[in-house]
Amino acid sequence: MPEAKNADTRTAEADAGPIRFFDLETPKKMLRADIEKRWQKILDHGAFIGGPEVTELEAALAARTGAKHALAVASGTDALVIALMGEEVTSRDAIFIPGFTYNATANAVLVAGATPVFVDVDAHTCNMDPAHLEAQVEAVIREGKLTPRMVIAVDLYGLPADYAAIGRIAKKHGMLVMADAAQSFGGAQGGRMIGAIADMTTLSFYPSKTLGCYGDGGAMTTDDPARFDRWSSIRWHGTDAQKKESIRVGVNGRLDSVQCAVLLSKLTIFGDEMKARERIAQRYRAGLGNAVEMQHVPAGSQNAWGLFTIMVNNRDAVMKALQEKGVPSSIYYYKALHQHKAFAPYAPKGGLPVCEKLAARVLSLPMHPYLTDGQVDRVVAAVKAAV
Ligand SMILES: Cc1ncc(COP(=O)(O)O)c(C=O)c1O
Repeated sequence: MPEAKNADTRTAEADAGPIRFFDLETPKKMLRADIEKRWQKILDHGAFIGGPEVTELEAALAARTGAKHALAVASGTDALVIALMGEEVTSRDAIFIPGFTYNATANAVLVAGATPVFVDVDAHTCNMDPAHLEAQVEAVIREGKLTPRMVIAVDLYGLPADYAAIGRIAKKHGMLVMADAAQSFGGAQGGRMIGAIADMTTLSFYPSKTLGCYGDGGAMTTDDPARFDRWSSIRWHGTDAQKKESIRVGVNGRLDSVQCAVLLSKLTIFGDEMKARERIAQRYRAGLGNAVEMQHVPAGSQNAWGLFTIMVNNRDAVMKALQEKGVPSSIYYYKALHQHKAFAPYAPKGGLPVCEKLAARVLSLPMHPYLTDGQVDRVVAAVKAAV
């Protein structure tokens, strides 16, 4: 069986070969012919903005997430800003966000003209701690300067936030819940897909995300038709449906046909990629066992495994030891939000102890659907030897 032998040889070569932190090359090779065909079509029809690929992608995203409406936008950051603009937030509105996330979450709140209130996270899931959310909401009410308006939960590393607990607190205080799902497209919780859990969800299609395009891209989902209409208008400079009059302030937040075509192509392999991510994550978990602390996945949550993250005390030494064995690793994130100069004015009194501790300890290991079992085992062995 010469073919089987060739396959075995290829696997053995890959097992011993270089380990990529992300792998954008393999899917590019797999889909190149399909993407070129789709791009050729765009060259022919010439609708570079607002082409049929945009509506096709929006329908595909709605179908895949189970949300009633999906809107393609220029980036995950634009999705956050447009969603906040859609609720007409002002500087008197408190928007509660986790203190441990990418800076885009905080930037979007400030760009939209609202006030961020940082919430500490859970030491095990790395996501917003509902108990501290409740405490921060009560503190805002006691102080009397801001109105609690919205919670933006972030699904860090791909793990859905605790939407049940956050939803209860939001409801009690008349707040909306937005899911910043930039890292978790493909994840699920309680039988619902990311995109159909919160009042509204924002996605990023940055190239290294679980679903990534070949440039910047993003999307937003909701079940509320009026909210969706406001977003569509804001995405296109705040114009009415006929694009004749500016009926509100808006932005250029459109995603072009070329990027939508890449995403449509990527969606054809997305299901298989998610299965591979789960298999790889489980191999990491089984291999690492009790040797190292890992992000905790609560029962009922499906992590999309945008990143696979461990927590270590001697991080610099571990990174160096991994590097010496050809294992790349990366830090998401070096600082909690309130530790950044730009967001220091919003630092809570006493800081955010769990966020600060995580920022000093988190380390993400290689994670992409094309890691072989042998490569995962090499990473596991290198981590065990280093900690
Ligand atoms: C949690 C989070 N929110 C928002 C964003 C912003 O997405 P984009 O880079 O597409 O603007 C990112 C991107 O990395 C992110 O990780």
